[in-house]
Amino acid sequence: MAIAYSFLSSSWSWMLLFFFLLLFLNMQGKASRLNSFYDSVIRLPSESESESAENDEVGGGTRWAVLVAGSSGYGNYRHQADVCHAYQLLIKGGLKEENIVVFMYDDIANNDLNPRPGIIINHPHGQDVYAGVPKDYTGENVTTHNLYAVILGDKSKVKGGSGKVINSKPDDRIFIYYADHGGPGVLGMPNTPNLYAMDFIDVLKKKHASGGYKKMVIYVEACESGSIFEGILPKDINIYVTTASNAQEASWGTYCPGMDPSPPPEYITCLGDLYSVAWMEDSESHNLKRESVQQQYQSVKERTSNFNNYELGSHVMEYGDTHVKPEKLYLYHGFDPATVNFPSLNGMLGAPVDVVNQRDADLIFMWQMYKRSEDEPEKKREIMKQIAETTKHRNHLDGSVKLIGVFLYGPAKNSVIESVREPGLPLVEDWTCLKSMVRVFETHCGSLTQYGMKHMRAFANICNSGVSKASMEEACMAACGGYYAGHLHPSKFGYSA
Ligand SMILES: *[C@@H]1O[C@H](CO)[C@@H](O)[C@H](O)[C@H]1NC(C)=O
Repeated sequence: MAIAYSFLSSSWSWMLLFFFLLLFLNMQGKASRLNSFYDSVIRLPSESESESAENDEVGGGTRWAVLVAGSSGYGNYRHQADVCHAYQLLIKGGLKEENIVVFMYDDIANNDLNPRPGIIINHPHGQDVYAGVPKDYTGENVTTHNLYAVILGDKSKVKGGSGKVINSKPDDRIFIYYADHGGPGVLGMPNTPNLYAMDFIDVLKKKHASGGYKKMVIYVEACESGSIFEGILPKDINIYVTTASNAQEASWGTYCPGMDPSPPPEYITCLGDLYSVAWMEDSESHNLKRESVQQQYQSVKERTSNFNNYELGSHVMEYGDTHVKPEKLYLYHGFDPATVNFPSLNGMLGAPVDVVNQRDADLIFMWQMYKRSEDEPEKKREIMKQIAETTKHRNHLDGSVKLIGVFLYGPAKNSVIESVREPGLPLVEDWTCLKSMVRVFETHCGSLTQYGMKHMRAFANICNSGVSKASMEEACMAACGGYYAGHLHPSKFGYSA
């Protein structure tokens, strides 16, 4: 095993492996459309060597990065794996540890369920991505409060953690990458409250107003991640964003048990997310002094669509300032000298893969645990109970939101609650209203949880249609009156808003 890993640790070996894989696929006659990539690999030796001598300066500025895994729990292994992988990629690219701030709950590597203690992988054949990742903000310190203070470079506002912040100057570039669950207008956090889109955008505007950067690139993987920026990210603050999905669809986990490709058999959880592995594997297989932000957007878009299969993929979206797009990627991800002869662009990278909806990944994880507890009836019963509780709460959330719609708008017009606004419009006009509606709902109906974030659009529509807080209160009481939320009541872990 050790030999295999050290072999895989050089990017060149990866390239070679990939090459043979493509060769194999071609022989299978399945991958004729991969030919353009194949060709670009063949052309490798003729690539100009002069690139290696190219100055690595970024106009005197510094490259900064903020990496956020917004979930916790072994069933969400993939988000922290994504973020650790991103860290390794940036370090290989020459960014300095002092300029990268990592937010992750850090309950994966040493989790009892982890078959390789102390190790995290982000690919079925991947090497460890955990070693060396700084523990800036872990556990209880992974909060939106700290994230905002870190981005703003405001050390005095940070609570706990390493205190590392983005102390950037007007000539600097910043890369932000967030991997997690989400819902319309929100991104998850392992500690309440969730990130609300408008708060995040306000932080970015403030950072811009303070002259805190030259340009910024943000990548977000989450369900409905487009809704974080749609209609609210200004186009003139030098920030360019791509998201895993549009404002109204799920994003996808990949490298899951039983899938193709599958993690090693001892893993019962997904190792990565579709958009996330798409951008990272793209960055690792190209010369980033030649590949532009635009080119990566295109290839990630193609791969994340699962090659135009939107039943099992999502629409990668772009927002903000398009002037950033021609810039070369090394300005954000750095440049690994080992990639100097890699192409800047190729045809379709990879082939369709199996995926799982982010929102079903945790149930599938629990189901895997259940199936593997054959010899432990006690444990098996306990897991079944957990699965049943989870599905029960899901059904309760779905049913009560629907019923609230009927109460507020009448049975004939209850679809108001599901309506989707025109592209380009923000999810909600009044973000304060959105938060207060969520709190009312959680008070009477229990915590929204990771799954329930999908209903954020309903609360947004309730605000957009001018329903008063008092009417919402009554509707929630009627729909959920007497529901015993148990540990899923917000009094336990706080409101999500
Ligand atoms: C949160 O930060 C504080 C202060 O740095 C630290 O003492 C504590 O251990 C941190 N908590 C976790 C779980 O890392």
